[in-house]
Amino acid sequence: MTAPDPTAAPPTNPSPAAPEAETGRDRVRIFDTTLRDGEQSPGASMNLGEKLEIARALAGLGVDVIEAGFPIASVGDFEAVRAIAAEVAGSTVCGLARCNDRDIDRAWEAVQFAQKPRIHVFLATSPIHREHKLRMSREQVVERAVAGVRRAVALCKDVEFSPEDAARTEPEFLREVIRAVIDAGATTVNIPDTVGYLMPGQYAAMIADLIANVPNIGRAVVSTHCHDDLGLAVANSLAGVQAGARQVECTINGIGERAGNAALEEVVMALRTRHDYFGVDTTIKTERLYPVSRMLSSITGLAVQRNKAIVGRNAFAHESGIHQDGMLKNRSTYEIMRPEDVGVPQTDLVLGKHSGRHALRDRVVEMGYTLSDEQVEVVFNDFKALADKKKEIYDEDLAVLIEKHLGDAVPASWQLLSLHTTAGTSVLPTATVSIKRPDGEIVQDAAIGDGPVDAIFKAVERVTGVHANLHEFVVRSVSQGKDAQGEVTLELEVESGEASFRGRAASTDIIEASALAYLNAVNAISARKDRTDVREVVGRPGAGL
Ligand code: KIV
Ligand code: ZN
Repeated sequence: MTAPDPTAAPPTNPSPAAPEAETGRDRVRIFDTTLRDGEQSPGASMNLGEKLEIARALAGLGVDVIEAGFPIASVGDFEAVRAIAAEVAGSTVCGLARCNDRDIDRAWEAVQFAQKPRIHVFLATSPIHREHKLRMSREQVVERAVAGVRRAVALCKDVEFSPEDAARTEPEFLREVIRAVIDAGATTVNIPDTVGYLMPGQYAAMIADLIANVPNIGRAVVSTHCHDDLGLAVANSLAGVQAGARQVECTINGIGERAGNAALEEVVMALRTRHDYFGVDTTIKTERLYPVSRMLSSITGLAVQRNKAIVGRNAFAHESGIHQDGMLKNRSTYEIMRPEDVGVPQTDLVLGKHSGRHALRDRVVEMGYTLSDEQVEVVFNDFKALADKKKEIYDEDLAVLIEKHLGDAVPASWQLLSLHTTAGTSVLPTATVSIKRPDGEIVQDAAIGDGPVDAIFKAVERVTGVHANLHEFVVRSVSQGKDAQGEVTLELEVESGEASFRGRAASTDIIEASALAYLNAVNAISARKDRTDVREVVGRPGAGL
């Protein structure tokens, strides 16, 4: 019996306006939406400094387009998109807008100073969305989509249109919308499987149908945008490429609404590893995939599952004796990619007590961060303090130190000065805290609780007068070893769940980390500049026009 030929299915119908015309090669554009669709996932919200750092890392990774946010959603979103557009070079910087003048003008205001700006306009087209969300007829949807694209084109020459929930749209109506928006000037048409409903064959058929039957399709790049509700986002995106799409929308680590979006690292490595099958290239520097994945996970606190393809801790670990034996004889027995191709470090032990500034700076750059000299100095001081407490400083430890100083961290209006707890099997857990108030006065108080952490939270509540429900509390070991730092991430909900605020802190003492994380969230509540409130007023994608 002969083995099936894995190269038997060649790519079909590349989208005629695909960028091979520019490069001479059949290239797939990578559109990263970590900072927009990804940031919409619970627990993934980032501050301006964190977003800028991720955007720089994405540009360094070589993504074609960075969707930096949804500028109308909040002042914070707007400012982040504007800052990224002003600073980040190399990649196109894109802002999302619903199909109305206010959204589009605001998106343009945010991206206009980018080296390569793009406006991404979307409007739902499926009968479910038309009837229940938009309450619009087919004619009204086409009219609105065309008007939106025209307005965007008048401002920006690079305009993308997305028919939201394209996957559940009647095929003939989808063709009509796509034709109309290309006539109106859209240069990219993105075809979202918004609810992750389609099977790969169906998604490929939808793309192939548009390429074959929309007469002006050659004037636009066809793009995929797949969600992972059935675990098929990457498979569907790749099926779309096979059917001729030449842009893939994806996120680092696959973060995104609900089950997430297609994982960038998986799409890119599938295209590269199976070049024989797909016959297309991307411009991604694959050896930056692992550092960027780590950076995002560390900034958001969203852990990457151990067995996650490409960037999971176990992705290149060979445990069984038979596999190890095969690997020693020839790596290709059990390895289709080399860890170094995706930037997995050979060892992540980096620095110790005697390491100097230069070693620290080199490591910071290697990890993908861009720090000023002043920031390096502050991180170096923290590093020295940490190195007194623990012998070996790993990348993860360093990441925690760096992220404390990224951009517009929440001002520490309430500051923990000291902390004392008692706990054990036969004592009532108590906590005494000494806290500096925003007006400079130092206040002390004590409380009892179910355990020392509960007692601390109650004592902090008494001092600050901020009452909130603890919605989530996670402790994780930042690196390895018994002396590892513990990082606490928690979420406080105020006003009956209407607004939630994240707090995060790390220390070699997890009780201290808990107190600092709680105060960090209390400070965010006090600052009240969290975007949640604004989002509630304006809405998110999916909230209609
Ligand atoms: O999933 C979706 O439909 C979207 C659009 C806004 C492109 O994210
Ligand atoms: Zn989406």
